[in-house]
Amino acid sequence: MSTDTLRLAERTRHIALSPTMKGTIEAERLRRQGVDVVDLGAGEPDFPTPPHIVAAAQAALEKNFTKYTANMGVFELREAVGARYREAYGVTYAADEVIMTAGGKQALLHAAMALFGPGDEVITHMPGWPTIVEQIKLAGAAPVVVRTRIEDGFALHAETLLAAVTPRTRGIVLTSPGNPTGALLAEAEARKLAPEAARLGLWIVIDLCYEALIYDGVPHNLPKIFGDVMRDRLVLAGSSSKAYAMTGWRCGWLVGPKPVVQAGNALQSHSTSNINSIAQRAAIAALTGPQDCVRDMLNEYKARRDQVLDWLGDEPRLECAVPQGAFYLFPSVSEFLSPDGHRTSLDFADALLREEHVVTTAGEAFDMPGFIRLSYATSLDRLREGVTRLIRFARR
Ligand SMILES: Cc1ncc(COP(=O)(O)O)c(C=O)c1O
Repeated sequence: MSTDTLRLAERTRHIALSPTMKGTIEAERLRRQGVDVVDLGAGEPDFPTPPHIVAAAQAALEKNFTKYTANMGVFELREAVGARYREAYGVTYAADEVIMTAGGKQALLHAAMALFGPGDEVITHMPGWPTIVEQIKLAGAAPVVVRTRIEDGFALHAETLLAAVTPRTRGIVLTSPGNPTGALLAEAEARKLAPEAARLGLWIVIDLCYEALIYDGVPHNLPKIFGDVMRDRLVLAGSSSKAYAMTGWRCGWLVGPKPVVQAGNALQSHSTSNINSIAQRAAIAALTGPQDCVRDMLNEYKARRDQVLDWLGDEPRLECAVPQGAFYLFPSVSEFLSPDGHRTSLDFADALLREEHVVTTAGEAFDMPGFIRLSYATSLDRLREGVTRLIRFARR
C-alpha cells in the first residue's frame, strides 16, 4: 500500500491527543502488578452520583424512556437548565436558548465550530485545559494564548486579555474556575472586560463546567455581568459532570443566543444527535432536585483543599497558589529540576510515579512546564499518603 493511501486529512495534523494518558496507562500497569498506587491524577469527582439522580435514571429505564428524543434534549430539561441559571445568576434563558450536549466538552466544541473559522484569532488563557486550544484549531481558527502567573494566583486580567486583541480577533474563550489552576475570572475583571468586548464586537465563550465548585463564597456572577452588556454575543458552557459527580453520564449544555444554539443543533443533528435519553431524565432530577448533595461535596472538597495546602506547606519549595475553585492544586516543582536531575516537570512526574507510585499530571499537559497538577478528588487518607510520598521524593 502506498503511503499516499494512508494519509489522513490535514486537520488531524494540527490536533494533539491529550498528553495526560501516559501516566494513567503506567499507573494501570503498576496496579496490575499489585503496587499500592496513589492516584492524584483524577479529573473527576470521587463521589458516586447521588442516589436520587440514579433513581431517576432507573425509572427512565423502567418506563422505556430509551428512544431518540428531540435533538436539543427534552423541553423539561432545557427549561430546568434555564431555571437553574435564573436562580443562580438572575439571568433569563428560554428553553430554545439551551441545547443539551455530550458534556460541557461538546458544548464548547459547538461554540468553536459555530463562531470561529479560518482567518480568525481566538484568545484564550494558559495554563489551562488543553481542549480549548485544540477545539479552536479544529474550527480552523488560530488560538492566541494569554499566560497567567503563579505570582498572582493565576488570576485572569481584563487588561492582558484585551492587549491580545488584533483586528482578526473574533472572540475570547474563558474557563472559570480553571483547570488546573482553580483560578477565577474575578467579577471586577469581568466588569472591565465585558463593555470592551461588547464595543469590539467580540464573542465571549465561558466554560463554567466547575461553576458549582467555588470556595469561600467568592462571588462569580459572570453570566449576569457579561449578559447585561452583551447577551447576544455571550455563550455559556455548563455541565452536570463535576457538580453532580456525573462525568460518565455525558450531560452538559450550551446556553446562548438562538442562532448559536441552532448552529449547535444542526452540527449535533449530523453527528451525535440527542444526548442519551436516560441521562436526560437523570439530569432533570439533578437540576430540579435537592441541591444539598452539591453543597456537601463542595464542603468536602474545601476541607481537602485546605488540608492538602497545609501539608504541602511543610515543603515551601513546592510553591502553590490557593485555588478558588475546582478540585486541583497546581504546585511548582521548578526548585527540584536541574540539568543533571529531573530536567522537566514531565520527568519529575514520571519519576514520582516510578519511584513513589504517585500519579500526578505534569504541567506540560496544561502548557505550563515546571508545575504538576494534584487532584484532591480522592479521600483524605490517600491524599495524606500521596503528599508524604511527594515531599519525600522531592527532598531526595
Ligand atoms: C475546564 C474543563 N472544562 C470542561 C470540561 C468538560 O467536562 P464534561 O465534558 O465532562 O462536562 C472539563 C473536564 O475535565 C474541564 O476540565
